[in-house]
Amino acid sequence: MASLESAKKLAAYKAVDLHVQNNSIVGVGSGSTVVYAVERLAERVKNEKLNVQCVPTSFQARQLIIQHRLHLTDLEIHPRLDVCIDGADEVDSTLTLIKGGGGCLLQEKIVASCAKELIIIADYTKNSQKLGEQYKKGIPIEVVPMAYLPIKTQIENQLGGTVELRMAKAKAGPVVTDNGNFILDWKNFQDYKWDTINTKLNLIPGVVETGLFVNMAKKAYFGLADGSVKEQI
Ligand code: A5P
Repeated sequence: MASLESAKKLAAYKAVDLHVQNNSIVGVGSGSTVVYAVERLAERVKNEKLNVQCVPTSFQARQLIIQHRLHLTDLEIHPRLDVCIDGADEVDSTLTLIKGGGGCLLQEKIVASCAKELIIIADYTKNSQKLGEQYKKGIPIEVVPMAYLPIKTQIENQLGGTVELRMAKAKAGPVVTDNGNFILDWKNFQDYKWDTINTKLNLIPGVVETGLFVNMAKKAYFGLADGSVKEQI
């Protein structure tokens, strides 16, 4: 049986092999699965002498690109990307995603929205039928710090569920994102029409972005326990 790490690697390698061509602009996602994608990308760039420019979606992604000596670029130089390869915390049967478990949802969504295709790579534990079935840590919502309490109250009163301010593990206080914001995790929510809920959340003053990715992903690759890769479109 393949371990979770080898399942992540299988998915990542397959996505990079199938979706990155010479002379392309690639969005580099964040998280532990993306580490394998960057590893494979660096291998292919070196072996096949590919010309690939990489746009990071976080501080972590930027570091990965630099460490692997890939070409670092940004949206000012390359506002249109060929592909963005990223992980997810959960992927449902309609390719609606929960992202932001690692706190990088805002830049991930911006970069993905500039790409012709968003390709998701994940291990088999991320695949679900209904959103919230697998990932129990809640839907991440990035908010302006001064507004976290009114936003929490508004979501709980109007949409239900419970909202928690994400606290840092190695410091006393909340997690601060790459953009200087806080993260709220919305738990115990019901089964909603996710595009409507996403719009509602984004209209609350102080909400910067949500970790709900609706109608964005084109395809997902899941590394499975038997060593194969499942594709979902
Ligand atoms: C980062 O904030 C997230 O959106 C990640 O892309 C997502 O959590 C997947 O991460 P893993 O590959 O570590 O599971």
